Amino acid sequence: MLVSAKEMLEKARDGKYAVGQFNINNLEWTKAVLLTAEELKSPVILGVSEGAGKYMTGYKTVTAMVKAMIEELKISVPVALHLDHGSYDGCYKCIEAGFSSIMFDGSHYPIAENVEKTTELVKVCNEKGLSIEAEVGSIGGEEDGVVGMGECADPDECKQVADLGVTMLAAGIGNIHGKYPANWAGLSFDTLAAIKDKVGSMPLVLHGGTGIPEDQIKKAISLGVAKINVNTECQLTFAEATRKYIEAGKDLEGKGFDPRKLLAPGTDAIKATVKEKMELFGSVGKA
Ligand code: 13P
Repeated sequence: MLVSAKEMLEKARDGKYAVGQFNINNLEWTKAVLLTAEELKSPVILGVSEGAGKYMTGYKTVTAMVKAMIEELKISVPVALHLDHGSYDGCYKCIEAGFSSIMFDGSHYPIAENVEKTTELVKVCNEKGLSIEAEVGSIGGEEDGVVGMGECADPDECKQVADLGVTMLAAGIGNIHGKYPANWAGLSFDTLAAIKDKVGSMPLVLHGGTGIPEDQIKKAISLGVAKINVNTECQLTFAEATRKYIEAGKDLEGKGFDPRKLLAPGTDAIKATVKEKMELFGSVGKA
């Protein structure tokens, strides 16, 4: 069922686990994530970046594919279809296309403008029963050409944005998208604790879930993180499994060139990654 992320995140916050957001890029990716969530009886959030939405020919295609897949695969766990790092215009397009959740990334606007635009979108989402994520303090690394500096969010600004009535808040705590550099200082738990102190029961979101050591993931969940985003790790395992398949010459043997066979090892690798993350985040059996 396509649902808002509100209820699943409040349950995760209360149960001290996190729901994984796995970004999708195509049919195989979507199928792999949905089947794994169903097998593990885990709630799940499908993240769609603006670039991935464009690649899949538009948000209407994405919504239609996901809704039909949920029906035809008989997926019974709660699934939220969520715009990842949405622009102001992108948010409206996804609302119109039937997404059940959006992220408005206003972190690059001055705080007053971020507040103004977030307030407006909260109103629209409340009217339509959608969940909405806001971001304070940019997340570092590069994603779809958006480069952030990886700053730590100001806890007072987090409170200001949380009080606007968003469903969940992504706050920079030293996390970055993509691979972490060898000299990465780790997550700033002091910042996370200070934010939690200010925002109370607001479910917090940890972006850049690829490559964060397990102990830091668990500590972040214990401090109020209820949603963790994973993208790069699925891309890496997909690419690695596909490379191995091709290098083994299997794509040239028999019917190995069949795209369904060619994409199968990568799709299985995504399933394994999603399973590993759901186990680590503690969401297995929570649907
Ligand atoms: P990674 O690509 O580092 O896993 O981060 C994903 C993310 O935060 C999407 O918003």
